[in-house]
Amino acid sequence: MSKELTIELLNGLSERFGNAFYLLESDNFEQNFKELSNTFKKYYPKFNIAYSYKTNYTPKLVQIVDRLGGYAEVVSEMELEIALRSGVIPARIIWNGPIKKSEKVKELLLLGGTVNIDSIYEIDNIRKIAESYPEHILNVGVRCNYDVGDGVLSRFGFDVDGEDFDKVMKFIASISNIHLVNLQAHFAKRSPEFWTARAEGMLSTYDKVVEKYGLKPERLDIGGGIYGKMPESLRSQLGISNISYDDYASRAAKLFAEHFKDCSDAPWLFIEPGSAVAGDCMRFVSRIETIKNVRGKTIATVIGSQKNISMSGINPPMTIVAGGQNQKQYNDVEIVGFTCIEGDVLHKNYNGELAIGDYIVIQNCGSYSLVMKPPFILPNFAVLDINGSEIEVIKRAESFDDLFHTFSF
Ligand SMILES: Cc1ncc(COP(=O)(O)O)c(C=O)c1O
Repeated sequence: MSKELTIELLNGLSERFGNAFYLLESDNFEQNFKELSNTFKKYYPKFNIAYSYKTNYTPKLVQIVDRLGGYAEVVSEMELEIALRSGVIPARIIWNGPIKKSEKVKELLLLGGTVNIDSIYEIDNIRKIAESYPEHILNVGVRCNYDVGDGVLSRFGFDVDGEDFDKVMKFIASISNIHLVNLQAHFAKRSPEFWTARAEGMLSTYDKVVEKYGLKPERLDIGGGIYGKMPESLRSQLGISNISYDDYASRAAKLFAEHFKDCSDAPWLFIEPGSAVAGDCMRFVSRIETIKNVRGKTIATVIGSQKNISMSGINPPMTIVAGGQNQKQYNDVEIVGFTCIEGDVLHKNYNGELAIGDYIVIQNCGSYSLVMKPPFILPNFAVLDINGSEIEVIKRAESFDDLFHTFSF
């Protein structure tokens, strides 16, 4: 349940933090994490979540994951650093990502973290590290690529029927201090219908790796790509039905349970959700600054932007909190952002009362929003956690110097 936003609360926050800000509800994130985890565990108890940092790498959120025993799924040196600075122990970090810096790979491997190999070009570096540090066990994973019937030819990982897959497995099997801990696959399409094929593809790859190469990965990670909770208005625009966590778990985790039913050392099932846990835990608030009429069209401008919410081509779930003077009834209003892009429209065809000083509140801004906001025209706004009675500043508003100290003037 989201906290009710009164005009007194929003006016108070805008006085302190400016006329636009993100409102985080970290409790919602925690609830989603637990619920998703329990849903999969119901079918297959050896289950864990590696949270996808790229979706929303807010330290408070990744620390919740860590506290709940989840892993960090990172895809760059930057995200690796976020995990380490957030206090995540390296053994609980999994590094995916197609391009990795050699020195950082070495650092994570020597600390006991897992590096998932995405292409054959990575093996020379790993071989050198293994030879230079024979007393260390290096934990690696292999990213697997197979058809799940979603119509996408993914660019990630190894074609499990290809030559490079054979090479990477033989390479791992040939070096005694390299340990295959992980098989991983990720597919971007979020429809549950592809999750049976995901699980089947992973299970048959596991069987092949055990039988043909004598390797026994401890974790089978079938990636992210799960829809989070959203209101009906958003679902209908995305053309999706009321999908639950169980729609994924019942397809994938059940197959794992059947496959490993008589097995005493069955592997762990991992998933890498981002949106499923973060999507509905953040709202974006922005004050209406101007209302004008241009050739018969009413246009209301806010100090936020479409760039803040990342949802485009749809009307995001939005409510208005009235606070301005002179409320008037309007029809077919375009609510637009601060940038100079004609297409910076946050909401089309708004019908209802509106005034300068009202706030728009856009829901479901927790995933791919904050992390994808470019420093375009204005720095980004503050992020505030509104759980409980205290307001916690998660990220202060960015300043000019935050963005420009890397330039030479
Ligand atoms: C490797 C990997 N895992 C997990 C995710 C998270 O995806 P989602 O937010 O759809 O769960 C992504 C997203 O791009 C990804 O690339």
